Amino acid sequence: MQQRLLQHLSLFHFLVLAVDPSVPETGRRGAAASSPPSPPAHSAAAGCEVPPSHRFDCGAERLLAREGCEARGCCYAPAASGAGGGPPWCFFPRGYRSYRAENLTATARGYAARLRRVAPSFLPGDVGVLRLDVALETESRLRFTLRDPARQRYEVPLATPRVSARAASTLYGVQVHEDPFGLVVSRRPGGQVLLNTTVAPLFFADQFLQISTSLPSRFISGLGEHLAPLVLDTAWTKVTLWNRDMAPVPQVNLYGSHPFYLVIEDGGSAHGVFLLNSNAMDVVLQPSPALTWRTTGGILDFYVFLGPDPKSVVRQYLDVVGFPFMPPYWGLGFHLCRWGYSSTTTTRQAVANMSAARFPLDVQWNDLDYMDAKRDFTFNKETFKDYPDMVRDFHQRGLRYVMIVDPGISSSGPPGTYKPYDDGLKRGVAASLLQVWPGPTAFPDFTNPETHEWWHDMVKDFHDQVPFDGMWIDMNEPSNFVEGSQDGCPNNSLEKPPYVPGVFGGRLQAGTICASSQQYLSSHYNLHSLYGLTEAIGCSRWRPFVISRSTFSGHGRYAGHWTGDVESNWEQLSYSVPEVLLFNLLGVPLVGADICGFLGDTSEELCVRWTQLGAFYPFMRNHNDHGNRPQEPYAFSPAAQDAMRKALRLRYSLLPYLYTLFHRAHTAGETVARPLFLEFPKDPNTWTVDRQLLWGGGLLVTPVLEAGQTKVSGYFPAGTWYSLVGVGAAAGLPGAATPFLRPDSTIHSKGQWVLLPAPLDTINVHVRAGHVLPLQEPAFSTAESRKKGMALVVALTPDGFARGELFWDDGESWQSFEKGDYTETLFLAAHVSVGGGHLDGILLEAVTILGVTSPPRQVLANGARVDDFSYCSDTQVLSVPVSLPMWEQFVITWS
Ligand code: NOJ
Repeated sequence: MQQRLLQHLSLFHFLVLAVDPSVPETGRRGAAASSPPSPPAHSAAAGCEVPPSHRFDCGAERLLAREGCEARGCCYAPAASGAGGGPPWCFFPRGYRSYRAENLTATARGYAARLRRVAPSFLPGDVGVLRLDVALETESRLRFTLRDPARQRYEVPLATPRVSARAASTLYGVQVHEDPFGLVVSRRPGGQVLLNTTVAPLFFADQFLQISTSLPSRFISGLGEHLAPLVLDTAWTKVTLWNRDMAPVPQVNLYGSHPFYLVIEDGGSAHGVFLLNSNAMDVVLQPSPALTWRTTGGILDFYVFLGPDPKSVVRQYLDVVGFPFMPPYWGLGFHLCRWGYSSTTTTRQAVANMSAARFPLDVQWNDLDYMDAKRDFTFNKETFKDYPDMVRDFHQRGLRYVMIVDPGISSSGPPGTYKPYDDGLKRGVAASLLQVWPGPTAFPDFTNPETHEWWHDMVKDFHDQVPFDGMWIDMNEPSNFVEGSQDGCPNNSLEKPPYVPGVFGGRLQAGTICASSQQYLSSHYNLHSLYGLTEAIGCSRWRPFVISRSTFSGHGRYAGHWTGDVESNWEQLSYSVPEVLLFNLLGVPLVGADICGFLGDTSEELCVRWTQLGAFYPFMRNHNDHGNRPQEPYAFSPAAQDAMRKALRLRYSLLPYLYTLFHRAHTAGETVARPLFLEFPKDPNTWTVDRQLLWGGGLLVTPVLEAGQTKVSGYFPAGTWYSLVGVGAAAGLPGAATPFLRPDSTIHSKGQWVLLPAPLDTINVHVRAGHVLPLQEPAFSTAESRKKGMALVVALTPDGFARGELFWDDGESWQSFEKGDYTETLFLAAHVSVGGGHLDGILLEAVTILGVTSPPRQVLANGARVDDFSYCSDTQVLSVPVSLPMWEQFVITWS
């Protein structure tokens, strides 16, 4: 067999020409097994000596006793620990054959083969012959698909890059094992096997597609949305993907599906794998380590990203699903919401209270309360009678306004009384009837282009009355208060597939509509998890600020996300860090949890700590459930308010930096909130850190996530880290844009955990040596703060280097970057260069340089002496007050 494999490979010299020595034994022995007669294909005893951690489940779709297990040619070994969660009792022997590869041929993009099933499977709708296509798409990206050549099956309608020719790669090699079929991708140089599907048999039946791979390490992240540590546990963890209206709890399918994972390998290299498939699926992780994809439809369409570093893996994934959209500047300010602002009077009061208590606020929101009988595109003519005026008043004060919109369109009124329904009915845009807040509702089908037109018309009509600035799209999993429909669901194989993934509620239609509902593009069975994405696409056409609960791969290109109905407790506070980091890896950087928690009453201490952390969510919104105690910042004691104010003003000081990070995400596929391992992949201590987060590469945030703590331990990778308190008034300094640092708290780390003081009014934030951060004096809204003076924090490395950037435009025009209507400034240590006109009128007022090793004799700003600079040799901080126009080039030197 090995000989035949080599023959094939030598025909295609772009493949590796020798069997890679690091291919695990399992694969080899499997490949070498002689062809058993079929059926029955496998004898039970042979090949059963598989260590428990390496066992792959032979009876995933039902529990099998010995007899049934052995009838499948599998091995039966009940474990003392019980079946659920541990190794399977019924598992495949080594070398179990399912498909054999034949006719390997070269194609323009790579190569193709036919796979022939060599033994019948035990699932209905088994596909006997498959076509394998391997496309070497780019230097660092490989795609392989498995399709049924005899029948067009559903494929996810996501626009992915078109590639016409094969790319040469020095990063990876690919092998096809013939019998049993398997694909092995290894890294070059070194030969590290990244993907090896020979470890378990492939299945391709109509509603059950399964493929497994070994993993090169246990450090695996991704597979959102779930409530879990950032690095997943490989000890028999099942991650289920099927979008669901579900208050976040561990081990349950939540609002979004992102079948993408990233693995960090020994030494800090990384790769990623994306399965472009939207059907309900389970992904099973086991300790060998290995992973099994088990999906209920579609095709197997895989992308493999070779990195070789974790940042590149994220970018390569986003090359396929799309770079994130650029939010407006005001979208990065503070957002205030609750369910229970029951009138314009209470909503106006909340805004007035924020301003009286001197808290920044950029965006005021309303939940369902504004609607008439909870119906979209209406407002209550009593409680919200001056609704349009309220929104206009907010605009006058420099605020923005966002309101909730649910996808369910009320269908209960008499004909002719509710335009969205009447019109939608006429235009045939509904996919199904269901029940949500307003009672019986129709559910628009966003895979139908006509729905987009109708939706656009409805949104526009409403906007003509109420000039809102963004849309909050909720309940779009889609959520249904009855199971399936009021009349139940038909009895067919879509409603009752032979394999049901571990979805909450046990049935696909639990909490949503019938799987066999027909949509424009396909069945809901196939399209369910795309509902939020397709709705977000429909909304983003209208407004560039959309926050959605339901998401799918590629969502970040159109909208942001909030993490749903989190409880007001400390556990949820700490889980919000990995959730925010995860969504950044998934290309949805505009993400945050409901600050202070949504379900249940918060406490003052929790709310302070949550506001401090929330100041570092890329999307910062305080939102509360109806009936709960108030949790707006002004609802707490003066001391708590002080602490929150400080955190908010620190965020506002940092907005130029945050906005620039979003620009980098939008144009270069970078992350905004970033796990440490993305910046320090070579330091294995960083790989599991998910109680701290970075903003970009230059700012490390170490929040307190536990009750009653006034100290917090954080990991500081090797280097120098400067403790930042704020800018000007944010730091208790009078007015101006002077950065305030705590030089005595500078950390010179060798790569170590550091215990930091963290009294209730403090969140620890450190600037990393080597970075220049553009800051601005904070104000009570971004409309004001954008006009204030700017400041630079220049944190030098020991060899005197620092680099940073500023992206600046008018803060809200759609696609200003694409149109070239912006200013981008690069800061290099002591040399600052500026071009473009968007910074007109803004002065640079202070430059703080950290790590200046000897006292400067003179400081020059544009060649003119600055006499009132100050230098402290203990702390090595040089402070230079300046007054330089940001719109002109300037140079600051010290010697
Ligand atoms: C569920 C959402 O998750 C929550 O944020 C919202 O307040 C309620 N729906 C009511 O609209």
